[in-house]
Amino acid sequence: MRWMVVGAKGMLGTDLVTRLVAEGHDVMAVDRTEVDITNEASVEHAIDKVDVVVNVAAFTAVDSAEENEAEAFLTNAVGPQHLARRCKKIGARLVHISTDYVFDGSNSSPYLESGAVNPAGAYGRTKAAGEWAVRAGTDDYIIVRTAWLYGAHGTCFPKTMAELSNKNSTLSVVTDEVGQPTWTADLADLILRLVLAEVPSGTYHGTSSGRTNWHSFAQAIMTSLDKDPDIVKETTAAAFQRPAPRPSFSVLGHNQLVAVGVDPIGNWLERWNEAAPAVLAEFKD
Ligand SMILES: NC(=O)c1ccc[n+]([C@@H]2O[C@H](COP(=O)([O-])OP(=O)(O)OC[C@H]3O[C@@H](n4cnc5c(N)ncnc54)[C@H](OP(=O)(O)O)[C@@H]3O)[C@@H](O)[C@H]2O)c1
Repeated sequence: MRWMVVGAKGMLGTDLVTRLVAEGHDVMAVDRTEVDITNEASVEHAIDKVDVVVNVAAFTAVDSAEENEAEAFLTNAVGPQHLARRCKKIGARLVHISTDYVFDGSNSSPYLESGAVNPAGAYGRTKAAGEWAVRAGTDDYIIVRTAWLYGAHGTCFPKTMAELSNKNSTLSVVTDEVGQPTWTADLADLILRLVLAEVPSGTYHGTSSGRTNWHSFAQAIMTSLDKDPDIVKETTAAAFQRPAPRPSFSVLGHNQLVAVGVDPIGNWLERWNEAAPAVLAEFKD
């Protein structure tokens, strides 16, 4: 099986390519200089003779998307449309990564894969449009919605907390946003398992199991750094205004994974404890 990973130098892409190579798969890893997904000619020229294309390229700057929605739309919606058309033409399966931001966060029970999307901000609107572009463009796709990603190869919440804790005696972190911290290495493993299991085309949720809030996650990060978790103080989203709205409830259900016999990712805290040495390596003595 021949794989192509598009957007391969990002946080998820780096872990995915590492994993595929480690498992002995034939992988072409391309970044924006080799395949710019917003340019259909670039997509058509570069993507050929592959069995699976994984799109991990995206405009991921959530706040910046509020001011630059057209640019975000080009990458998050038009780009996936180009990829879907190309995959259909060459008979490749498209794996496309989406987000909890397609939901408005007003639920109190886990979002179903089939739940109606209702994004609250520009980033979520563009990602929701990308999902539809994939569904409309090809019959052979796997959409994986993920959330609260962290990894060793990018800017992420655990590294930000580690940096802040080196500069400040206390940190204020919100308690009223709930979600599922998810390690990019675990998501890479799930993507591989979904493809190898030849699951039916559809939408799947790729997040850790269980749930927490940012404050509790920050405390777990301090514990991993051998720091006092009580330096993390409680605050609320209302006191911490940012340009883009954040969903207050980002818990995704894993019913579709279970239905196709693919194990969901494990509990968020167990997975964090496994991930922490790699993700926080640069902060450890
Ligand atoms: N991070 C999270 O917490 C989170 C949560 C939910 C969902 N997701 C989704 O997960 C996926 C992976 O996220 P990530 O955090 O790994 O993202 P990331 O680190 O920001 O990486 C995105 C990659 O996409 C590339 N890219 C951007 N525009 C491109 C274009 N036009 N053509 C080709 N490549 C392009 C970027 O290259 P440049 O460096 O050249 O810009 C970068 O290498 C995305 O679909 C994202 O929406 C992420």
